[in-house]
Amino acid sequence: MSSPLVLVTGGAGYLGSHVVSALTSAGYNALVLDNLSVGNADLVLPHAWALVEGAYGDLPLVRALLERSHPANPGRPVAAVVHCASDAPCGDDGELLTVLNVGSGAEISIRDLANAVARECDFRGTISWDASKPDGTPRKLLDSSRLAGLGWRARILLEQGRASTVTAYRQECEGQLARLG
Ligand SMILES: NC(=O)c1ccc[n+]([C@@H]2O[C@H](COP(=O)([O-])OP(=O)(O)OC[C@H]3O[C@@H](n4cnc5c(N)ncnc54)[C@H](O)[C@@H]3O)[C@@H](O)[C@H]2O)c1
Repeated sequence: MSSPLVLVTGGAGYLGSHVVSALTSAGYNALVLDNLSVGNADLVLPHAWALVEGAYGDLPLVRALLERSHPANPGRPVAAVVHCASDAPCGDDGELLTVLNVGSGAEISIRDLANAVARECDFRGTISWDASKPDGTPRKLLDSSRLAGLGWRARILLEQGRASTVTAYRQECEGQLARLG
């Protein structure tokens, strides 16, 4: 008897590809329906029984898969459907919001940041710099304009975040030392 066939919509996406891999490990055949707007066929093909490129809103296509008349699963019934597909939202420019930079809009060099963290931690040692190594990106500033265009603003500035992180770290260390007695 062949393994039960499970239709996984969005199976080439993040969640779906894990579902496909888990189903395959559990002895099911995963039939993936994905329009590959975001998903990655290479991610899922090694685990999927078959990949059909198409939209879950394409009713004739979905009907053909469920009625086992599609060339992908002729005569093989679909035992279950796991719906993992989701349309990525679009910005006002109509582009898919697949990658959004999240930044405060402020820029700081690695040297200034290291010095500020050292001050915050009362670090009395010396920071050594290895100038023989590359500097990384010349600018340390993300273009967060797409996110800003959606109305998002950073509410915690770098200095505040740095201070509260150091405070939380200190409290954690003190708690651990107290527990050790
Ligand atoms: N990633 C998580 O940790 C997580 C946790 C809980 C819930 N979810 C939910 O699970 C769903 C999937 O999340 P994800 O992180 O895997 O997203 P994802 O963007 O990685 O995957 C979505 C998949 O759906 C496909 N897709 C988009 N529109 C489609 C369409 N019309 N027809 C067919 N395929 C289509 C995309 O190509 C992509 O492969 C979302 O609704 C998400 O909110 C995700």
